[in-house]
Amino acid sequence: MPNSHIPVITIDGPTASGKGTVAARVADRLGYHLLDSGALYRLTALSAIRAGVALDDEHAVAKLGAELPATFSNGDIFLAGEEVGAAIRAEEVGNSASKIAAFPAVRQALYGLQLGFRKAPGLVADGRDMGTVIFPNARLKVFLTASVEARAERRYKQLIGKGISANMEGLLADLQARDERDTHRSVAPLVPAEGAYILDTSDMTVDEAVEQVLHWNALL
Ligand code: CDP
Repeated sequence: MPNSHIPVITIDGPTASGKGTVAARVADRLGYHLLDSGALYRLTALSAIRAGVALDDEHAVAKLGAELPATFSNGDIFLAGEEVGAAIRAEEVGNSASKIAAFPAVRQALYGLQLGFRKAPGLVADGRDMGTVIFPNARLKVFLTASVEARAERRYKQLIGKGISANMEGLLADLQARDERDTHRSVAPLVPAEGAYILDTSDMTVDEAVEQVLHWNALL
């Protein structure tokens, strides 16, 4: 592959483990590009919801994924020219993304788009299968995790901070359901990649997690 020499750092892990924040900060510190692969699943889910396509129609949803009119610029995400960064963060869209992500045709439809993010001087990719499926030859693979309680608490604070009402019990149940789907699906299940460094951030700050990843990277 022409770009296989470009370094990639993969950061995979369960929902609300903080991988998105850590990945963005690591990319920033290294001057690397960032792939938020979850955003692609969310964009596909949002497209389906908006187009009135049933979420269980694997091939219709995959078609939307393959033709996603998405652009990314300076942290903003556009779908057909409309900024949808906030819209795709809605819990309903996240839950729908988790459902459609179980379909092999949907994952296949988004494969090439994800590879295209590997550009000089390097890439930090966050998701579920960055180290296992999309970039198995990544330079550094990290599996970021935290207890389900710590993750629910973080998600709760994040939502309240945005002025969105949330309830702890509902969030815990949602996280558990999402973990269950992500780990038990037959295609690209959430597991640490071979050779991945495991980082449990239950008792860590974001800064500490970022420093740990940068430290591992510097050792390679
Ligand atoms: O972490 P969170 O679930 O809040 O959101 P996300 O990382 O934006 O991903 C949304 C959904 O897409 C996840 O629940 C996963 O089921 C799915 N996903 C995936 O299957 N593979 C990826 N590489 C990234 C996300």
